[in-house]
Parts: sequence; structure tokens; C-alpha cells
Amino acid sequence: LELSRSSSMSTGRVAGIIGLGVAAMLIIQSGDPLDFRSPVWGDTGLLARAAVCIIAGGSLLAMGWLHRLLFSPLEVLRGPDDVGYIAEDGRSRAQAANEVRRRRKTGELPPVYPNGWYRVMDSHRLQRGQVKSVSILGEQVAVFRGQDGKAYVVDAYCPHLGANLAVGGQVVGSCIECPFHGWQFRGNDGKCVRIPYAEKVPEFAKVRCWPSCEVNGQILVWFHCDGEDPQWTVPEQQEITKGQWVYRGRTEHFINAHIEEIPENAADIAHLAHLHTPGIASGVDLRYTNSKTWEFLRHDWKVQWEAESEPNKHCSQMLVKHALTVFGRHWPLLDVRVVARQVGPGVVFLLVDHSFLGRGVILQCVTPVEPLLQCVSHTIFYQANIPPLVPKFILKAECIQFERDVMIWNNKKYISKPLLVKEDSAIQKHRRWFSQFYSENSPRLQHQRDTLDF
Ligand code: FES
Ligand SMILES: [Fe+2]
Repeated sequence: LELSRSSSMSTGRVAGIIGLGVAAMLIIQSGDPLDFRSPVWGDTGLLARAAVCIIAGGSLLAMGWLHRLLFSPLEVLRGPDDVGYIAEDGRSRAQAANEVRRRRKTGELPPVYPNGWYRVMDSHRLQRGQVKSVSILGEQVAVFRGQDGKAYVVDAYCPHLGANLAVGGQVVGSCIECPFHGWQFRGNDGKCVRIPYAEKVPEFAKVRCWPSCEVNGQILVWFHCDGEDPQWTVPEQQEITKGQWVYRGRTEHFINAHIEEIPENAADIAHLAHLHTPGIASGVDLRYTNSKTWEFLRHDWKVQWEAESEPNKHCSQMLVKHALTVFGRHWPLLDVRVVARQVGPGVVFLLVDHSFLGRGVILQCVTPVEPLLQCVSHTIFYQANIPPLVPKFILKAECIQFERDVMIWNNKKYISKPLLVKEDSAIQKHRRWFSQFYSENSPRLQHQRDTLDF
């Protein structure tokens, strides 16, 4: 997908650039265009040809742009300083972000890495024989795809002398070979199977191996603070596997917050009617989202949050009914129903169902990178026979609404004993539900200092 996108982009661009280049050459060859005695002003034929080239180049560029808009996936990738910080008084966004992080009160935080499945990367980014370095849950891991096509995740540091297996390591069969002295470790259990210069491989020579799975176009790892085996599986979305729903785009954000604050949003029903009511045209900067200009466009939300029961007590559901009003008039054709099914602490399936705009899913994944830094991705798969513009618009709308939350999360404090009213009761229910993912040994943020070095 990435390949086809970049090639379509470059063809349009290259054609445009060639057109403009030819035009420029014609002008240069025919003398100095600013010199009124130069032949260019006399020779209208040349000028006309140059103009045609410019127009052709311009329209090729426009066509490339239109093609991208209509057909290629939407990709929005934001860095940790890009969204949700106010850069005022001549400060840069990065300075503003750093200052907020430094001054921030963290509150009495729950443990920072709940037990569960977390997305490491998208499948298509890892070809057979490739290895990638990833930071996840405060650790460095090496993710590689064996020649058998399977994806494996192991600790990045070689137990021999600590080289990083993901930096220069080679995939050999279903093993990873360290770049330093060539030790080879098996992907499925981490055992060292070869030391090129030693007679015997000691039994205890091992690198830590993370339980992983590959489903819905993503590679995920299981984390448990006591090293326990996976307690549930990540459900497969059949329509994706069968190719009925296809990839139409993704967004990625890095958020400075505790992981629990992100899913808690689903149970925070009151915030929808406040933060998410202004139309998406009002943008993401909370200082201006209530401006009068776009007041005529409003979103209405009806929401319910519930935990599921055994054997799916690690799941919860948020049922959303979305309606759009323009100048106070409701447009029933634009009603959308979404079921947001959360599976464990790190994965949510946002199932979109619309009467004529079709069906699809946005996979929302929250993966802690550090105690207070979360990588959140939204990946949309949508009915193949619906024009890509529809899912791209849905993803963009979700992205705008999400970035309003990001501005809240990046600047807020975690309140362990919140001041709630009766109507907020789902928040407490959500906290009780979420607490199942912590156990006695779940890692906690030791010192507040931990959060200061960005
Ligand atoms: S450090 Fe990896 S083989 Fe020596
Ligand atoms: Fe929200």
C-alpha cells in the first residue's frame, strides 16, 4: 500500500516538475526574459510553447494531487510536540511542550504498564528478513520477520555483551544474529542456537522473547509484569483477513498522559456533549473551538458504556449514536452508529455502520512508550466497494475530535479521587473495570523525576 501510494505521488510530481523544467529551459535558452531587446519578447512562438508547458506541468501536478485525494490512503503522523500545546509569547511549540511537561503535576498515578496486548507496528512495515528497533513499555525490543514469514519480538540487547540486535542484526532462518560476535537467537523462544567461535552453546544462553501475535494487519506483543502467558487473544476482524475491508489510512499521535486516561474517555459521557459538540470545522485548538463562525454545525452524541461479562470481562463496549445538526436541523442521513469495543488496555475496535456510506473498522491502539508517553494509532479498514474518500473523511473527522482530547490529556493532571456527580458514574465503573489489568507487581512510576527527561 505504501509503495503504490508513493509511486502514484512521485509520477504526478515528476511529470509536473518535468513540464515546469522544460518551460524554464525554453525561456532560458531564448535569452534573458527581462531584457526587452532579447529575442524572447520578439518570438511569441517560444513564449506560447513555454506557457503550454507551464499549464501542462501545473495540471499534471493538480491531477496528481486529485488522484492522491481520491484514491491513496490518508496518513497523519504527529510528533509529541505537534498537537495540544499552546506556544505563546514567542516560544516554539517544542519549548511550550517541554515547559508543560516540566511543571506538570502528575497526581497519584496507577501503575504505568497494565497487563495486556499492545500494538508494536503495522505488518506491512516488516518484510521477510527485516529487523526493526522499537521502544515499548520502557524497553527496547527487536522486531524481526523470519524467512518463515513469522514475526518475532525479542529484547533488543544481546545477553552476551549488550549489542543491539535491531541495529545491524541479520535474520537467519527464524533466528536473529547479533551484529557484534554473531551469536544466533531463535525467534520463538529466544534460545541461543549458535556461537560461531564456541564449541558448545550453554543451556542458559537466551534472550528474552515476548509473546506476540499478528492479526488485522498488526503485530502485537503480550506484556505481563510477572511474565504470565496471554490471558486472552486479540480478536480477528474477519472482513480484513478476507479482503472485504481494505486499508484506507492511519493516524499516529504521541500523547503525554497516563495510559488509563485515554480509554477512560469512552466512559466519560459528559465530555462528549462539551468537548466534541462543536462541528469538526471548528478545528482542534480548544481556545477557538467554540467560535461563532462555525456555531451552526454541531455534533450530537448518545452514548452508553458497559463492561462485558465472563468470559470477556477483559472487554468493554461503548455504544455511540452520532447525529449532525446544521442550523439546528437534524440530518438523519448522516446519523452514524459506532460500537467501540475495547479489548484489554491497549486495543479498541471502532466499528462504523452507516445506512449507505458502508461499514468498516477503525483500530485504535494505545501503546505505552514510557510511563507517561503513549503512542496512539488509528488505522481504518473499510468496505472495498465504497469510494476511499468516505473512510478517509471518517478517519479525518475522528482525528480532529481526537486531537481535542489530546490537548486536554497533554496538559491535565491525573486525579485519583475525582470529584464526580451521579451522571459521571460510568467513570468510576471504568476505573474498576480497568483495574483488572494491574497486578501486585505492575511497574509504578518511582520518582516524578522519571518524567522529566524528554
Ligand atoms: S554482543 Fe551479541 S554476540 Fe556478542
Ligand atoms: Fe473524547
